[in-house]
Amino acid sequence: MSAAPRRFSKPCNLSPEPATGTTISVVVPCYNERDNVAPMIALLSAALTGIAWEVIFVDDDSPDGTSDQVRAIAATDPRVRCIRRIGRRGLSSAVIEGALSSSATYVAVIDGDLQHDETCLPVMLQAAERGADLVIGSRHVQGGDAAGLSSSARARLSDAGIRIAQAILPVKLSDPMSGFFLLRRDLFERRARRLTGQGFKILLDLVLAAPDKLNIVEVPYKFRPRQAGQSKLDALVLAQFAGLLIDKTLRGTVPLRFIVFAMVGLFGVGVNLLILSIARHAGLSFTSAQTIGTIVAMVANFQLNNQLTYRAQRLRGPKFIRGLILFMLVCGLGAIANIGIANALYAENAGGLPAGAAGAAVGVVWNYAVSATLVWRVR
Ligand code: GDD
Ligand code: MN
Repeated sequence: MSAAPRRFSKPCNLSPEPATGTTISVVVPCYNERDNVAPMIALLSAALTGIAWEVIFVDDDSPDGTSDQVRAIAATDPRVRCIRRIGRRGLSSAVIEGALSSSATYVAVIDGDLQHDETCLPVMLQAAERGADLVIGSRHVQGGDAAGLSSSARARLSDAGIRIAQAILPVKLSDPMSGFFLLRRDLFERRARRLTGQGFKILLDLVLAAPDKLNIVEVPYKFRPRQAGQSKLDALVLAQFAGLLIDKTLRGTVPLRFIVFAMVGLFGVGVNLLILSIARHAGLSFTSAQTIGTIVAMVANFQLNNQLTYRAQRLRGPKFIRGLILFMLVCGLGAIANIGIANALYAENAGGLPAGAAGAAVGVVWNYAVSATLVWRVR
C-alpha cells in the first residue's frame, strides 16, 4: 500500500523566471571524447563571455562514457546540454539533431576534440550579425593553418578532398571540408529536410542543399593537433564522402542508398562466382556449388548492407539473425522475379544480354525496395 500523499504548502503558480533568449547554441558532435568535455566547456566559457550561449553535446552512446561526463557538468551548469543517441552513428546526423534541438538565434558547429579554435566564435558571430548567412572557420585563408593534421598522408588526403569538393560546389570555398562553422538557425532549419545526413561533411551538405545563394564569410583559424582520444576518420567515412559526391552530382535523382545497395549487389555477384568456381574445383555438382555460392553471397551482402548501406539502422543480436533470414527470403523472391522476367524476354527474342540485364535490374530494385522497408525498416 502506498503512503498518503504529502502536501506542499507553497502554491505552484509562482511566476517563472523572465525568459532570456539564447543567442548561440554551440553544437559539439562527439564520440569517445570524455577527456575533452570539461576542457571544451571551460574554453567555450572563456571565449564566449558576455554572450548568451549554450553548448549541446551530441554523443552517440560512446563506450567511454562521454555522456555521463557531459551530464555531470550539466547538473550544475544550465548552459550545458547532452543529447545521447542510441543505436546510431555519424558526425553529420549528430550535428543535424543537435542543431534542430536549438532555439537560439545562431547555431555554431565545432569538433569536440579541441582541434578547432573556439576563440574565433565571437568574430564569427559578429560576421553573422552583420549579415553573413554562413560563417566558416577556414584553415586555408590568409592566417589559417592546417598544421594539426596528424600526418602528411592526412594532409594530402585533405587537399585532394578539397579539390574534388571545390569542383562540384557552386561557390568557391577555401575549406569546404571544414567542420567548424556558424549560421542563423532559421537558415539551417529551412535546409534541414534536404540534407543527406551521411558521413562527415555536413558543411558541404548544407551548402549544396539549396540552390539559393548564400552570403558566406570565411574566418581563418589554426587547426590544432588533437590532445586526447582518436580521430574517427576511416575508410568508411571516405566511402561515405564519395557517396555524398555521387548523390550531389546526380542531384538526388537516384537515392544514394540505392547506389550503395547496387554496388554491394555487384560485389555479391563476384562472391557468388568465386565460390561457385572454388566449389566446382573441389568436385561439387553445379547445383550444389551454385547453391553454396548464392548463400554465401547473400550473407556477405546482408553483412555489407548492414554495415554500409544501413549503417544508421544497423541490426544487432537477435535482430541481425531475423534480418538475415528476411533478407534471404526477399532476395530469393527477387531472384525468382529476375529469372522469370529474363526468361520471358528471352522467349520474346530480346537477346540474352538485354534479357539478363532487365531481369537483374528488376531484381535489384525489388530487393532494394522491399528490404529497406521489411529488413531495415527505413521510414
Ligand atoms: N556524435 C558523433 N558520432 N560524433 C562523431 C562521430 C559520430 O559517429 N564521429 C566523429 N565524431 C566527432 C568526434 O568525436 C569529434 O568531436 C568530431 O566529430 C570530429 O571527428 P574527428 O574524428 O576528430 O575528425 P577529424 O579530426 O579527422 O576531422 C575533422 O576535421 C576535418 C577537417 O579536415 C572534422 O571536423 C571534419 O568535419 C573536418 O572536415
Ligand atoms: Mn579531430
